[in-house]
Amino acid sequence: MAKSRTIFFCSNCGASSPKWIGKCPHCNEWNTYQEELIQKETAAEEKRRSWSTSQKGEASKAVPIQKIHSGKTHRLVTPDGELNRVLGGGVVPGSLVLIGGQPGIGKSTLMLQVALQLNARVLYVSGEESEEQIKMRADRLSADGSDCFVLTETNTSKILQQAQEIQPQLMVVDSIQTMSTPFLDSAPGGIAQVRECAAELLRFAKETNIPIFLIGHINKDGDIAGPKLLEHIVDCVLQFEGDRHHSYRILRTLKNRFGSTDELGIYEMQSTGLREVSNPSELLLSQKDEELSGCAIAATMEGMRPMLIETQALVSKAVFGTPQRTATGFDMRRLSMLLAVLEKRCGYYFSINDVFLNIAGGIRVEDPAIDLAIVASLISSLTDVSIPNNICFAGEVGLSGEIRSVGRIEQRIAEADRLGFKAIYISKYNVKGIPVDKYQIRVQTIGRVEELRHALFL
Ligand code: TYD
Ligand code: MG
Repeated sequence: MAKSRTIFFCSNCGASSPKWIGKCPHCNEWNTYQEELIQKETAAEEKRRSWSTSQKGEASKAVPIQKIHSGKTHRLVTPDGELNRVLGGGVVPGSLVLIGGQPGIGKSTLMLQVALQLNARVLYVSGEESEEQIKMRADRLSADGSDCFVLTETNTSKILQQAQEIQPQLMVVDSIQTMSTPFLDSAPGGIAQVRECAAELLRFAKETNIPIFLIGHINKDGDIAGPKLLEHIVDCVLQFEGDRHHSYRILRTLKNRFGSTDELGIYEMQSTGLREVSNPSELLLSQKDEELSGCAIAATMEGMRPMLIETQALVSKAVFGTPQRTATGFDMRRLSMLLAVLEKRCGYYFSINDVFLNIAGGIRVEDPAIDLAIVASLISSLTDVSIPNNICFAGEVGLSGEIRSVGRIEQRIAEADRLGFKAIYISKYNVKGIPVDKYQIRVQTIGRVEELRHALFL
């Protein structure tokens, strides 16, 4: 019988140690070491590679880089334009892609949808749902799926045997945390198991050239559960995010070995699955005719795409002693900073008021260019003066109240122009070298927040 032994793994970074230690010497986290059962590898190593054909003991040789043929890799282009965009133009053969996201956000839906729509043989492996459940979902998605195979299995050896038999052109593994390899004794979802299964799937992908999508759970801090190590193993890490109470979902690239990480896909969750959103600005602007106080439109960039988003603020008298501050889709600390700037530089007093801030569509915006629109909506709500809804803003607000320049300003102006806005407010440091006359939209420049007040609210 093979000898069993235990090893301690850091649940944060995946480092291992033969003994329990309180503080991880690699990531400096406290109390993260957990015991995992490991079986000593003996003949297991041989058996594990039984599906492999290319390993007949030939020694690898180093090759001069000039002699390597670059040969254009033929990417597998999926029917999902947003996914292709995020991956940098399609799925690279033999790549391992990790897709993470909150429970219930739609990871399984997205992957099943791709599996059904793809005009090629796909193996969809699920360790979470039964065949009937998957079928039920597939019926809702109402796609063709004539060449999609479903396997409900958690044992990686059996999965890889089946994959070898079916020879799919794409494989999906629904949740790496449910997989287990027979060569380790520890429980599925443990660090050792997750790492070993991912490594096995990686070897399979590289040797057979079949691309594999791994679905991964994320923990409460929003990181992909299991060791950070998983992120190092795979070629691409995608994050599927959004507010569960809204229908919009964003697919972001956190890492991509074959393309840029600036790309981003936007979907809308409907009763028949996820629909691609190719014109986000038009959807995120609420079509209302009357002008209300507290609304301002920001010309933001999400990755490489310009997106006009409505920001809404509500400033009202605080009932209790301590005023409340709530922000949805925006960083609370940044909101406090903007309020402090407004108090100090413009003499608007928010300290006796509750402040609620909301970004339309439940989308989380990280672009600092949204600052100017937020400041405008806060002043608008406080003074109860509305801002015309054909004006938009793009600028970062600094601590001393200066409006700073932001990146890709021309794209923002062009998008606002395309959508028929009459004016855009940008930083005066941002106009250099921009052919302002080219656009129909009026480009207004401002240098400080005080000037915003004069421009809009007098
Ligand atoms: P799911 O893909 O199961 O999430 P995950 O795998 O990330 O945990 O997504 C489930 C949610 O999506 C569920 O709350 C219902 C919703 N949904 C729709 O709105 N329309 C659909 O067609 C499908 C299949 C799911
Ligand atoms: Mg799922």
